[in-house]
Amino acid sequence: MAGFEAVRVSEHVFWVGAIDWSVRDFHGYSTPRGTTYNAFLVMGEQPVLVDTVKAPFVAEMMARIGSVTDPANIKVIISHHSEMDHSGALPEVVATVKPEKVYASVMGVKNLHDQHLDPVHVAAVKDGETLKLGGLTFTFLETRMLHWPDSMVSYLHEDELVFSQDGFGMHLASSARFADECDLSMMEYEAKKYFANILLPYAPLVTKLLERIKGLGINIKTIAPDHGPVWRRNPAMMLNWWAEWAKQRPENRAVIVYDTMWQSTALMARAIADGLASGGTRVSVVPMQGSSRAELATELLGAGALLVGSPTINNGLFPSLADSLTYVRGLKPKNLIGAAFGSYGWSGEGPGQAEDYLKSMGVELVAPALKQKFVPDDAALARCRELGSLVSTRLRERAGR
Ligand code: FEO
Repeated sequence: MAGFEAVRVSEHVFWVGAIDWSVRDFHGYSTPRGTTYNAFLVMGEQPVLVDTVKAPFVAEMMARIGSVTDPANIKVIISHHSEMDHSGALPEVVATVKPEKVYASVMGVKNLHDQHLDPVHVAAVKDGETLKLGGLTFTFLETRMLHWPDSMVSYLHEDELVFSQDGFGMHLASSARFADECDLSMMEYEAKKYFANILLPYAPLVTKLLERIKGLGINIKTIAPDHGPVWRRNPAMMLNWWAEWAKQRPENRAVIVYDTMWQSTALMARAIADGLASGGTRVSVVPMQGSSRAELATELLGAGALLVGSPTINNGLFPSLADSLTYVRGLKPKNLIGAAFGSYGWSGEGPGQAEDYLKSMGVELVAPALKQKFVPDDAALARCRELGSLVSTRLRERAGR
């Protein structure tokens, strides 16, 4: 295939991945800006391929490799992570290139076996092991549960470059290969969204990993993740973002998520937002009509409060909220206070079921579910405003503790 070329990343490393401009849903994570599957070719005495791409992009990756060297010259492949956006192309690449070895973590070897990669080729590297591959020096670090049990990263000593697989990534399709060529605030949002949706359940492990990296005393000139731009300048910016997000330090900020049938629950949400704002609390209002669960998770990162507004339909919680709350509960957000609310017409189970979700997430409830029959009048809206004000007061009190 013609039309695709590699991009040099550092002295020995070339980007040979693929840009997925069209993906809009990445296993339930909305990706309005698409993504990239980054693979890298390390050109020492012999070429080493670092990770591969999602299966439909294999020809594009092989073409980029071919712009640097004959793919048949690749004797070694490193698979840092066996999720299929990186390993999906591996069986075809192995069949085509016939490498001497595919290196993966111990768990990675098992996963690749279960993905039907010929085990003859696959070997495990140990945590902390250093290998000379293609004449260059790689040190491997296991990063279990960041974000899969098999995950690992490697450090290429000669280029002071970290291949961080999913770590320090973002879902962003761009013609720019480097972070210093992208808009900073857009990148910060996409990186935060990625952290909130992929890494949040493992935030304590992120903190430990960053401490471990610091303890190694290595100089990191470049971070080359498997998604999004490469950090060839100021990689400390990304490291610092992760260090901060991993703390889940609650801000004086509240998230209100709601859905509505006839605008009454929406009206309640707005009055609660007003009460929060009057107390000096920043508010993110997330209407589930038109918002994705991934956007909700992003807003929740670092928030101090979560308020959920649900109408009642067929004796239950509104389905969009059941979806989004199930999703964010799985991400295990910490340090939240909150409450449920909602308008109803007949039986009114929605707010109570929203409250049950909050309890199951470990959210500290500041008030019982605020239920309103049909349309809120002035008195009801005043109660909504008071609820917002109460949450704001609690957030300020907590900040002062
Ligand atoms: Fe980008 Fe966990 O795969």
